[in-house]
Amino acid sequence: MSFLSDNCFFSPFTEDTIKTCASFSCGDDDMDDFFRNDALSYATFMMGRSYCFRLNDAPQKIVCVFTVSNDSIRIYDLPRSRRDFMMRITHHQKRLNRYPGILVGRIGVNVEFARKGIGSEVLDFVKEWFADESNKSGCRFVIVDAVNSPNVLSFYQKNGFTFLFTTEEQEDLYTNPPKTEEERKQRLQSQVRLNTRIMYFDLLNLE
Ligand SMILES: CC(C)(COP(=O)(O)OP(=O)(O)OC[C@H]1O[C@@H](n2cnc3c(N)ncnc32)[C@H](O)[C@@H]1OP(=O)(O)O)[C@@H](O)C(=O)NCCC(=O)NCCS
Repeated sequence: MSFLSDNCFFSPFTEDTIKTCASFSCGDDDMDDFFRNDALSYATFMMGRSYCFRLNDAPQKIVCVFTVSNDSIRIYDLPRSRRDFMMRITHHQKRLNRYPGILVGRIGVNVEFARKGIGSEVLDFVKEWFADESNKSGCRFVIVDAVNSPNVLSFYQKNGFTFLFTTEEQEDLYTNPPKTEEERKQRLQSQVRLNTRIMYFDLLNLE
C-alpha cells in the first residue's frame, strides 16, 4: 500500500499546475522558490522536467514535486578505489568514460505531509520509472546532489543511496578540479564543507 498510488495522481508540473493549485511549500525557501519561479523555464530550455503528485480528492493540493534531468558519473576522475569498484559492477567489453544516470535535481514534499514516507515513495517511483524497460535510454544510476544536512543525508541513506566520495575533500576535487598538483595537495589537506553531497542508487539493486 502506498499513499501516492492510493490517494494521488501523477502529472507534469506545468504553468497550469502553478495557476490552479494552492501555493506549495516544502519548508525549504530555495526549493519553494525554484518550483514557483524556475521550474518552468528549466523545462522550456530542456534542462530539467518537473512532475508532481496531487490529491485525488483535492486536485489543487500538491503533495510533492520533483525535477529530473539526464546525468552521468565520470568514472576516470574518481579516486582509484571507487573507480575500480564502478568498473567491476558493469560489463567489461567496452569501457565507458561516463556511466549513465538520472539526476533528481530537486525534490520537495509538502510540509503538511512531511515525515510520512512520501519522499521515500517518490524515490521508489523514480527508481522504477527509469529502470523500466520502456525507458528509452540506458540508465544505471539515480543520482542526487543531496543538501549536506543530517536530515537530508539520512533520508537518502535510508533509501539505499551511497556517497560517491568517502570524503568531502575528494568530492571537492572532483566537482571543482584543481589547476596544479600543488593546489591538489593543499586542498586535500584543508577542511572542506560542501553545500551538497553527490549520492547514487544503483538501479541494478532494485528488488
Ligand atoms: C527531504 C524530504 C524530501 C523528505 O521527505 P519526507 O516525505 O519527509 O521523507 P520520508 O518520510 O520518506 O523519510 C523520512 C526520513 O528522512 C529523514 N528526515 C526527513 N526530514 C527530517 C527531519 N525534519 N528531521 C529529521 N529527519 C528527517 C529521516 O531519516 C526520516 O526518517 P525517520 O522518519 O524514520 O526518522 C522533505 O523533508 C523535504 O521536502 N525537505 C525540503 C526540501 C529538501 O531538502 N529536499 C531534498 C534536497 S536534496
